[in-house]
Amino acid sequence: MNDRAAMLSPESLRKIDREVAKYPADQKQSAVMSALIVAQDEKGWLSTETMDFVAHYLGMAPVAVYEVASFYNMYNLAPTGTHKLTVCTCLPCGLQGSLEAADYLKKKLGIGFGETTADGWFTLKEGECMGACAMAPVVLVNNKRMCDHMTREKLDALVKHRDLPSGA
Ligand code: FES
Repeated sequence: MNDRAAMLSPESLRKIDREVAKYPADQKQSAVMSALIVAQDEKGWLSTETMDFVAHYLGMAPVAVYEVASFYNMYNLAPTGTHKLTVCTCLPCGLQGSLEAADYLKKKLGIGFGETTADGWFTLKEGECMGACAMAPVVLVNNKRMCDHMTREKLDALVKHRDLPSGA
C-alpha cells in the first residue's frame, strides 16, 4: 500500500469501490461525487491532499476534482464544527422566513455564515435550494438530516440538543 492508498481507511475505499462499480470500467470518474462524500465522511473535510488522493484513485486530473468539490456547498473545503447547519436562503425560502431564521440562528450562536462557534460545536452555512422549498425555512444538519418549518422554537430545540447526527 503506498502513501496515497493509506489516506483513506479500507472501509472508505471499499465504499468508493462500490460506487465505482456502478459505472463502466472506463468511467470511474463518474463516481467522483460519491467518492468525495465518502472521503469527507471519514476526514470531516476535504483537504487538497484528500482531493488529490481521490483524483489519483479515480484516474482524474486533480483540478477536475477541485472543480466538483468547490461547486457544491455540501463539500467542506475547510474544517467545520461538529455540526454543520446549512440554512437555505434562496428566494423561495427567503420569501418564507428563512432569512429571519438565519438571523435568529446567527444571534443565538453568536456567529455569522461561514463561522464556527468557539466551542467547535456548530458551523453555520448559507445553502442553495435543497428541493424542500415548500417546507421553508429549512436547515440541513451535516448534509444528512433535513429539518423543516424551522420556527424559533424549533431552532432553539435544534441547537439545544447535542444528539444531532455527527459527521460531515
Ligand atoms: Fe430553499 Fe428550495 S429554495 S429549499
